[in-house]
Amino acid sequence: MSTLTTAPTLSPTVNSAVFYEAHTGLTAPRKTLSPWLFYDEAGSQLFERITQLPEYYLTRTERAIFAAHADEIIQRAADSVTHPAPALTLIELGAGTATKTGILLTATVRRQGGVVYQPVDVSESALAEASENILSNIPGVTVRCQVADYTREPLPLDRLPNTRTLALYIGSSIGNFAPADAIEVLANLRAQLQPGDRLLLGTDLAPGTHKTTEDLLSAYNDAAGTTAAFNLNVLTRLNRDLGANFKIANFRHQACWNPHESRIEMHLEATQSHTVTIPGISSLHFSQGETIHTENSYKFTPQAIAALLDSSGFTSTQTWNDPQALFAVTLATAV
Ligand code: AVJ
Repeated sequence: MSTLTTAPTLSPTVNSAVFYEAHTGLTAPRKTLSPWLFYDEAGSQLFERITQLPEYYLTRTERAIFAAHADEIIQRAADSVTHPAPALTLIELGAGTATKTGILLTATVRRQGGVVYQPVDVSESALAEASENILSNIPGVTVRCQVADYTREPLPLDRLPNTRTLALYIGSSIGNFAPADAIEVLANLRAQLQPGDRLLLGTDLAPGTHKTTEDLLSAYNDAAGTTAAFNLNVLTRLNRDLGANFKIANFRHQACWNPHESRIEMHLEATQSHTVTIPGISSLHFSQGETIHTENSYKFTPQAIAALLDSSGFTSTQTWNDPQALFAVTLATAV
């Protein structure tokens, strides 16, 4: 039987951090907001819809890689010179609703009979949905949720004898961080692991033979306007959480490819000159055409992935791709 040992609880640090982000990001000369702010309840639902869009190839491609190789991935993660091989404990950074993770959990249960799974995410509602789905569909999984910002708070690592941690950081979430910050996030994870523990990293790949920049752009500018709604929702969140008075109609969604940084950028562009107030922050002026930079989504070459892992205290063990090499799933070992 699956058991839920800890009910998700809202960490107070998540709420006060919204004000901090708005204050630092919107009073800077070039206005920015952190992408984790997207993921309130409505935003998590919109992201879920994005993952099902025909243009957004990332999620279904990574899922196909898991579906084709889950047993091999789990087998390689558990590989050991010691006998018996250690049991894996899975922890997931930025788990969201964990829809793809089920494939890996099922493979782990198949291999070792049961598994402890610890999803960490800033969205309480997404985690509640994750544990509900997993508990009702995959017998043998013990779920321990933690509502937390994994970039700031220590991970809830359980260290049982004869176990090895497999940290999942999938969905190209690492792509939200600039190179130096990505190293910091992974090095911080590495510091909480032991040598021999594993990391499974999912990364979206840079344009190449089977992926044009147009493919990338339409993945972030879909015909149905779901990505636009996701981007604009951050303003609705600031209105609700901070009592801001953003008029959503004064902004429009913008996505562009920055080839020098190898990243998609999302912005919210002011369609006219106007002023916004947020209690506790001096009034914010927007000139027409000015943008709030809301997200970077870095796209990686295989060399860049290996270099990132090396710089963070991991070594790349094996990589799996889809047949068109749109996406990469890399198993790495903590050194
Ligand atoms: C969850 C960060 C991987 O960058 O593709 C989707 C978020 N933003 N559409 C991405 C996102 C716009 C997504 N990540």
